[in-house]
Amino acid sequence: MYVCLCNGVTDGQIKQSIQEGATTMRALYQETNLGNQCGKCCQCAKKILNDELLQI
Ligand code: FES
Repeated sequence: MYVCLCNGVTDGQIKQSIQEGATTMRALYQETNLGNQCGKCCQCAKKILNDELLQI
């Protein structure tokens, strides 16, 4: 599923970045480029980050 339509970033890419050590939104922005245009994906990406961190 696409989370960031502006940059074509999927939930799978976000989860992979988290597995590889991105534990903050700032790290996710740097790793995937999500959120750097309209910003509408930020809340969804943050929810994925929080859910994934709870499972680690
Ligand atoms: Fe992510 Fe627009 S949907 S910046």
